[in-house]
Amino acid sequence: MSEALTDVRQISGIAYGFMASKALFAALNLELFGHIDNGACDTKALAAATGVAPNRLETLLASLLSLGLLVRESGAGDYANAPATATYLVPGAKAYFGDYYRFQIDRQIYPDLMHLDAGLKGDEDNLAHDSFSGWLDDPQLAADFSRAQHAGSLGPAMMMADRIDLSASRRLLDVAGGTGAYSITFCRRHADLTATIIDFPNVVEVAKGYVAEANLEERITLQPGDALSEPWPGGQDAVLMSYFLSAVGGADIEDLLGRAWKALAPGGQLIVHDFMLDDDRAGPAAAAGWFLVYLPLRTDAVSFSAAELKPLIAGHGFAEIQDAVMIPEITKVITARKPAVE
Ligand SMILES: C[S@@+](CC[C@H](N)C(=O)[O-])C[C@H]1O[C@@H](n2cnc3c(N)ncnc32)[C@H](O)[C@@H]1O
Repeated sequence: MSEALTDVRQISGIAYGFMASKALFAALNLELFGHIDNGACDTKALAAATGVAPNRLETLLASLLSLGLLVRESGAGDYANAPATATYLVPGAKAYFGDYYRFQIDRQIYPDLMHLDAGLKGDEDNLAHDSFSGWLDDPQLAADFSRAQHAGSLGPAMMMADRIDLSASRRLLDVAGGTGAYSITFCRRHADLTATIIDFPNVVEVAKGYVAEANLEERITLQPGDALSEPWPGGQDAVLMSYFLSAVGGADIEDLLGRAWKALAPGGQLIVHDFMLDDDRAGPAAAAGWFLVYLPLRTDAVSFSAAELKPLIAGHGFAEIQDAVMIPEITKVITARKPAVE
């Protein structure tokens, strides 16, 4: 739980927070941090590099300085990227993360949240999209979303592969697997592993490119379709659902857990990675915020903690149920095993 607020400035910090988000997205869209990294360090050079007039650019630069995304070299004059900016927001940097913010947060989640009031009221006519899966029917939107997701998922996928040992597994089912960030990472880690990714057709099209790029076409099967209605292949050693339970309706969660149980071979492992509230549901703020994102998309969306999911998982017969923090303040991973003898 966060500390109780005592000052109006703390409330203002919340109310005006979107201004900071937009300053960051605008800078990313201009590739401003990349230009600074390339040596364009004053207003004149940055105006030439971005095509933004100095009077307007200086307003953005002031905001970026105030947020600590930029610093002034030797106290005055030239602009420089702050250490975290240099690591994560300069295109081409090893840990570059900017496209995730640009394509998923700025272009999709930010405008979707304009429909939060409608979502809360259950006003189906004014949700962010005509239907939850419908927006992914647009190939361009699906591609933008999925590429951004790929950029966002590669890091957590490596963390998961470090923590969850699939060396004895041969078949992984990656349900709502998106572009295959997890399947690709696990298959690279374990030479004997094969994977099947189920996702909507336009997303699977994007996954095809990443799987080919990784030379894993022989080991990763792509199954286009709605995972809530399509049959899942059986005999799996592991079933992974990453960011899927948060994206479905409350009633669908039981259905998905039942499908996972059926798809797993005895002894097989269930892996649920998702946004998760603390067990007392009073935070963390980032996880709580992520659950809000689904309300403008579907009126049956729910939020959950690991403490709430674990009994549902146990109810399907799973044992050895454990949870651990994955992305601090945002996600957890729950692992469970289908007993070797039912
Ligand atoms: C936030 S992305 C996560 C993708 C991937 N699991 C990862 O962690 O990188 C959620 C994914 O769920 C997929 N999805 C949502 N509802 C689905 C459904 N009913 N059937 C199949 N895929 C679905 C979306 O297309 C999207 O690729």
